[in-house]
Amino acid sequence: MTLTDVPWITAGTTDLRELEKARVKSWIARSDRGYEVLRYGPGLGVLEHPSLLKGPSFLKRLDDLGIVDGELRRFWNQVVTTTEGDQRKRMRVPLAKLLRPMQISKLKDTVRQTVHDILDEVDDPTDVALLDALAWKIPSRLYCHLVSAPVELAPTVARLSDSVLGPLLNNELDRRQEFIDATWEAIALARDHIGARRQDLGDDFTSAMIRQEEAGDLTEEEVHAEAVAILTASIDNTVHQIGITFGKLLEEPSRWQDVVADPAKIPAATEEAIRLRPRFNTIFRLAAEDVEIDGFPIEAGAWVYVSVRASQRDPEVFNDPGTWRLDRPTVRQMMFGAGPYNCLGQHLARLEINEAVLAVAQRFPGLRLTEDFTTRENNAVTEVTRLQVSLV
Ligand code: HEM
Repeated sequence: MTLTDVPWITAGTTDLRELEKARVKSWIARSDRGYEVLRYGPGLGVLEHPSLLKGPSFLKRLDDLGIVDGELRRFWNQVVTTTEGDQRKRMRVPLAKLLRPMQISKLKDTVRQTVHDILDEVDDPTDVALLDALAWKIPSRLYCHLVSAPVELAPTVARLSDSVLGPLLNNELDRRQEFIDATWEAIALARDHIGARRQDLGDDFTSAMIRQEEAGDLTEEEVHAEAVAILTASIDNTVHQIGITFGKLLEEPSRWQDVVADPAKIPAATEEAIRLRPRFNTIFRLAAEDVEIDGFPIEAGAWVYVSVRASQRDPEVFNDPGTWRLDRPTVRQMMFGAGPYNCLGQHLARLEINEAVLAVAQRFPGLRLTEDFTTRENNAVTEVTRLQVSLV
């Protein structure tokens, strides 16, 4: 495969047909913004490659939003997602410890109780905006639980997560000020909460991070950066993937009936919703030096975009890739990224989605859409825009 053989596609296209047409010809395509990887195997190769860096890709999002210098940029430069090398290891290891599968499995009862509490609060079960009434509430309340903040703060942290990640991931320049204000508010919130917690350490994330600071592993400002990272990363993305999962289950009622009849199928349904409609549509990296992927040369300084949407429908890996099937062999999802940067919260996200579907299936088996399920898609992410249901 040489440069002249590779197809050209529209930069940032959301058109699955365009991606699939190019994927038939080649695993890699080019566009105005760099290289576009369309198949599963090479996609993982890119995400795991030690010379293809993630930090610069997050910094690029900040640049694109006009956050290029000053105190705010200095703060963002030390958040785990923007760092590389030793600094990245220092920031990632403490979070990885807190979010490892063994720790997360201990949260099962809490997540279950949280979902049931939220369902108890529904006023009119015949007319429910499921994203607001359920999906926004689960990860935001869980965040409060994780950091031992009062649950009354849940709506605030939900708003902050959306005001930070929304403008950043959708590159919404008209929300730049909202992003700036929300970052400062999140830092202030983290500072106050961590300050108060110092006198009363317990068995929560905040206390664990304070202990890491006391042991000399993190500076005080880095503890704030970790707190803001968890706040932003743990809420918005999970909200939309919960919404997507219900949307995919309900747009074809037999899928919902299937999991109601056999709740053991819920984890497979969660995975199939992720595969067919991932929250993250693209994950990208910067080549720090000349590299070769499957014998194809990529020059230093090039941006390499991995299409999660096209890769998770690669027919070389998934039989009948466009079809909803719950009997697929387990294959690592591309949506949570890979390599030294992969999503640390994926076990928690899956637990939240599975428990949400389980609780609703048990209590409201007659759940149905009352309007079409709709999403807004851009090259980076998918947002649920309408998920109106009747629970009964
Ligand atoms: C369905 C929900 C979620 C989605 C779609 C998602 C997606 C992602 C993606 C795509 C990345 C970057 C991976 C890469 O570049 O290779 C990431 C990183 C990360 N995620 Fe998630 N995530 C979700 C939930 C969570 C939750 C619940 C938490 C925390 C409790 C979390 C914490 C993180 C952190 C800390 C990172 C940064 C890792 C690093 O840069 O080293 N995520 N996530």
